[in-house]
Amino acid sequence: MPIYFLVGLSTSLNTTAFRQRLLHRRPRPLSVPPALVLFAAFQSFARFSTGLLSVRKRQPPLLSPHHSPHGGRKNCALRQLLHHSSNRPLDRANSIKSPAMSFTNESEASISSISPVFTRTSTTESPLTSPDGSSFDVKVVDNALVDCLTRDYDLESICSILIQIAYRAGDMIVAADPSVDDSDTKNNSSDRVTATDKAVEAMIYESLKAAFPNFDFLGEETFKEGQKLTDAPTFVVDPVDGTLNFIHGFPNVAISLALTVARKPVVGVIYNPFRRDLFTAVKGKGAHLTRFDGRKTALPIKKTPAPLTSLNDCLVAVEWGNQRNGPNWDLRTSVHKKLLSSKDEGGAMVHSIRSNGSAALDFCYVAAGWFDAFWEAGVWIWDVCAGCIILQEAGGLLASANPGDWAPELEGRCYFAVRGAPEDGQKKIVEEVWGLMDGKTFTYPVRK
Ligand code: IPD
Repeated sequence: MPIYFLVGLSTSLNTTAFRQRLLHRRPRPLSVPPALVLFAAFQSFARFSTGLLSVRKRQPPLLSPHHSPHGGRKNCALRQLLHHSSNRPLDRANSIKSPAMSFTNESEASISSISPVFTRTSTTESPLTSPDGSSFDVKVVDNALVDCLTRDYDLESICSILIQIAYRAGDMIVAADPSVDDSDTKNNSSDRVTATDKAVEAMIYESLKAAFPNFDFLGEETFKEGQKLTDAPTFVVDPVDGTLNFIHGFPNVAISLALTVARKPVVGVIYNPFRRDLFTAVKGKGAHLTRFDGRKTALPIKKTPAPLTSLNDCLVAVEWGNQRNGPNWDLRTSVHKKLLSSKDEGGAMVHSIRSNGSAALDFCYVAAGWFDAFWEAGVWIWDVCAGCIILQEAGGLLASANPGDWAPELEGRCYFAVRGAPEDGQKKIVEEVWGLMDGKTFTYPVRK
């Protein structure tokens, strides 16, 4: 069904080649109702533009500055035509309505009659409910949608290119003198940027733009207030995650590179150039750690991870962030204290907590199974984006640091990563930590 819709849409835009490609492909059975996938496909495809069309199987992208950026001209029309309907995320609104849309063309797939209404009862619940009373799991729908949008593209080739870029970035970081760039003050004395952060991001940007001219870019050092992730294919980049570690010479530092499609990470590469640990994941293909000597291991490291039974038995990663006052700080520190405190003090008495200064690597260490969980708020999408796909491909569970949210937004700044284990145990750990928060939640952006 979604295929027919896409055919219809492409017909209306006279993108003949695109239509032919779709017609020659058999739709795959999806595990969610076709009408919902059709609706989801429209919502995202409407905001989805030319980028993916340049990275197809059997036509791997070239890492060359001469790669033609003109292939997407027809689809610019698509972008413009549909731009007005592009700012309503599929899975974010409390009530999601699709306006009745009609395309005057010869297609059998006119969707003018389709105007589904899906209502989410609260922003924190996963199921959506349709007018006929049936409900759908948001994660299942998102998953089917992203599979649908990416199935023609060679994500493993993209991963290989990201690995090459990460290695180049690693060489730059290891060779650098981490002098702080005082000309660019961030929030405070714990929120630093070095000339290396900027130089590495510039190199990454140039390399990615040369290879994938139609993809968007969201990087820590070039981020502008208000910039938002869109459904277009987007590289999400942190050139140096763990900048404070880098400045102090503590070798827990990483380059974090991700590709998102429809706002979901589909490729992730995180590289610590000092330890030469390379963590990678491709959606549907698993997560891996490649060590300094080239040994490559699927994640998690233990093939049959032990069940999670109690927070009491967990080694939990936390970070301190750079916001050191106000309600968010009070909540963070009170939970840290409760995680450590003995049970008779109302705490969880975890084995211990660890704070390593790189959220990207914290995610990887949970994916590997070295930490049981990582609970964190305040970090940004570039700190965690690649880590999310590495975690998920390693069988980990991603929830929010805030209670009740099992489907956190990538830009929501609140994350809870739990290592691979049977799901009931993963959820128990999440609920135990949420229970330590006394009903309080983190709020971003911070209210002054
Ligand atoms: C930092 C790290 C750290 C977290 C900070 C982040 P950066 O990223 O991820 O773990 O606690 O809040 O800013 O600035 O080094 O890329």
